[in-house]
Amino acid sequence: MADAKLIDGKAFAASLQRRVAAGVMELVTGGAPKPGLATVLVGADPASQVYVRSKGKLAAELGMASFDHRLGVETTEAQLLALIATLNADPAINGILVQLPLPRHIDTARVLLAIDPAKDVDGFHPINVGRLGSIAAGAPLDFPVPCTPLGVSMLLQDALGSLAGLNAIVIGRSTLVGRPVAQLLLRLDCTVTMAHSRTRDVPGLCRQSDIVVVAIGRQEFVRGDWIKPGAAVIDVGINRVPAADGKTRLVGDAAFGEILPVAGHITPVPGGVGPMTVACLMFNTLQAARRAAGLAVTAA
Ligand code: GUN
Repeated sequence: MADAKLIDGKAFAASLQRRVAAGVMELVTGGAPKPGLATVLVGADPASQVYVRSKGKLAAELGMASFDHRLGVETTEAQLLALIATLNADPAINGILVQLPLPRHIDTARVLLAIDPAKDVDGFHPINVGRLGSIAAGAPLDFPVPCTPLGVSMLLQDALGSLAGLNAIVIGRSTLVGRPVAQLLLRLDCTVTMAHSRTRDVPGLCRQSDIVVVAIGRQEFVRGDWIKPGAAVIDVGINRVPAADGKTRLVGDAAFGEILPVAGHITPVPGGVGPMTVACLMFNTLQAARRAAGLAVTAA
């Protein structure tokens, strides 16, 4: 059998970004203000600094206004909540992203709860979590949905078309990835199994699955002989491991080389799901701006 088709997340993310830029242009030409994205970083974690900078830069490239808030690591929860209240009240801001993880002295749940659900472009507010958890099959996503899971569902629909009736297994039950992925796949009429650290016989469940989504942070956990021939494998894992040349390289949660000859589709790491996250953040910000302007959202 031929090797699996590579799902090119980098190319899909680039095309989504072009669609967002066109949407921004349409909105502004219609007389609305530029969509505004506020990013908030507390502390100086180097990886978080890189992520926040790339989000602000991409927002500007797509024609949005970007507001970058950097707060010292000693910032109190009350100070952060005061900033969020200001951003909630500011009509120039459609999306608020508080970069996680927050320093330990700040209660993350309280901070996420303080963000206006309409501006919650991460989809982490309990109101938006609840909306996704109670959505009817095929109902429109007229509220913000977490970016990485949204990216996973877009890539699967692009690769496979209709997902109706397919068996999907989601490995990993995190609130940020696994659970929202499962909800999105249910909405698309998959039959969804959620596997986690206490699940019996993950390989056997995988062998019955047309779609395998893995997000557990364990390098090459999913093996080639777990995969039903022709299945689609979506690898959300990003693990940095030592490389032969003394440097490091990125590997996913799936054993790519073993799966390639068996699967029908597979996402590479890097270049698969990764680029979709920030593209979906831009998509969510545009959607929030369209709703703020009284316009319908565009289909995800
Ligand atoms: N930290 C790592 N990933 C994310 C994300 O998607 N959103 C936020 N706010 N912080 C993160």
